[in-house]
Amino acid sequence: MKQAKIILDRDYRISRIDERIFGSFIEHLGRAVYGGIYEPGHPLADELGFRTDVMEAVKKLGVPLVRYPGGNFVSGFHWEDSVGPVAQRPKRLDLAWFTTETNEVGLHEFASWAGKVGSEIMYAVNLGTRGPEQARDIVEYANHRGNSKYSDMRIANGRKDPLGIKLWCLGNEMDGPWQMGQKTAYEYGRVANEAAKMMKWVDPSIELVACGSSSSEMPGFGDWELTMLNECYENIDYVSLHRYYANPTGDTAGFLARTMDMDDFIKSVVSICDAVKGKKHSHKQLHLSFDEWNVWYHSREQDEEIWKREKWDRALPLLEDIYNFEDALLVGSMLITLLRNADRVKIACLAQLVNVIAPIMTRSGGGCWAQTIYYPFMHASRYGRGTALRAIVESPLYDCVDYEGVPTIDAVATQGDDGSLTVFCVNRDLAERCALELDLRSFGPLRMREHIVLHHDDVYAVNTEEKPDEVVPSTLPVVPVTDGKAQIALPPLSWNVLRFA
Ligand code: AHR
Repeated sequence: MKQAKIILDRDYRISRIDERIFGSFIEHLGRAVYGGIYEPGHPLADELGFRTDVMEAVKKLGVPLVRYPGGNFVSGFHWEDSVGPVAQRPKRLDLAWFTTETNEVGLHEFASWAGKVGSEIMYAVNLGTRGPEQARDIVEYANHRGNSKYSDMRIANGRKDPLGIKLWCLGNEMDGPWQMGQKTAYEYGRVANEAAKMMKWVDPSIELVACGSSSSEMPGFGDWELTMLNECYENIDYVSLHRYYANPTGDTAGFLARTMDMDDFIKSVVSICDAVKGKKHSHKQLHLSFDEWNVWYHSREQDEEIWKREKWDRALPLLEDIYNFEDALLVGSMLITLLRNADRVKIACLAQLVNVIAPIMTRSGGGCWAQTIYYPFMHASRYGRGTALRAIVESPLYDCVDYEGVPTIDAVATQGDDGSLTVFCVNRDLAERCALELDLRSFGPLRMREHIVLHHDDVYAVNTEEKPDEVVPSTLPVVPVTDGKAQIALPPLSWNVLRFA
């Protein structure tokens, strides 16, 4: 059995955790909206056509923020198409995903759904094919009290009170050649700056996220951030990061080490933000919005086949990754990475929420079930609120293709406002249990309440509608805390939630 030690102190604070770090994402893509959250005629649909079983699954996850309506979709989207009488809304070809958007679900309907599941909306504006003017118009429509063209249009459409959307994305992945209206960093920085000024003149209380590179693997990563921030630094509040990981070669040890890359990515963007701050002699500090993160690769070939057969249908079953047990471990480690960087990462969105690279799956006309990745997210969202604490981890290390010295134990701790303590840790070791000594030196008397574990002997095990409980959490016996120390055994390849009161 391997040995490891984690030292925690209640004074080793990283930061207060912004609850928006547990956000997610619904795009008009595939069956996320149509056949996902919305399915009129389903036996469990409510009066608006929203599936109540899906809403219950979302509520259990605890998602305080949902990014909407895209993604790549937003770069060709006309927000006006999505409001007003449903029968009069146009059908549009969506060039992002080669489907037809019917606009049956639009801004008002989505706001009702978000209210029902207890989420705020993070709304992305189109800076691809459109510009600052349409961006300021939608802020006026959503947030202005009335007595102006667009706010009166909202009122006429049945919503007297403003929607009060506080958080806005200035476009999506504008550096990507796949994006409608792709821009250079300078072009984007200029347009983001002008849109930001006008949007904040309409509603000074809003916060804005500028597009960083669409991945740390983009050739322009770094230069993009420097150049665009040089143009818009003073008028924006957050820079976005997007990252998806894959394991096409079946190298589990290497796959689980990918959060080393995620951590480097975060630290690099922080450095660039602060370099621009220094260069500009600014007093303003930017924060990060990691507004797309997940595992994404299982469905890629399937999507190519779908597009060969049936482009332009409504709600094609795209990006329907079926997540296995090792994906859940990486998602757990990604959550640990976000919490460990809670001083600068204030917003994060698991991409996405339903059917499309999602923790929640549905069958049209049928059931709704939780994928493997649902569970670490639910645990982190439920028990990871309050203050993030730095865990000093003494762990065995391993080497893999991309990294040397990967700790087998990846961990972070959080302290709730009620004084409770939670340690999240992943044991990356493929075969061996780990004897973990938890040194809780400064917390006073503590009692272990629960040891939740997610483990499966098969890294490729998945949950399906027929077998929804193949990969589900269980509990292990709690251990005593003696002289401020607890000795805990972590199964090999496991996600662990150690809860103390
Ligand atoms: O989340 C799926 C897609 O991934 C989003 O539309 C896009 O922003 C990213 O490339």
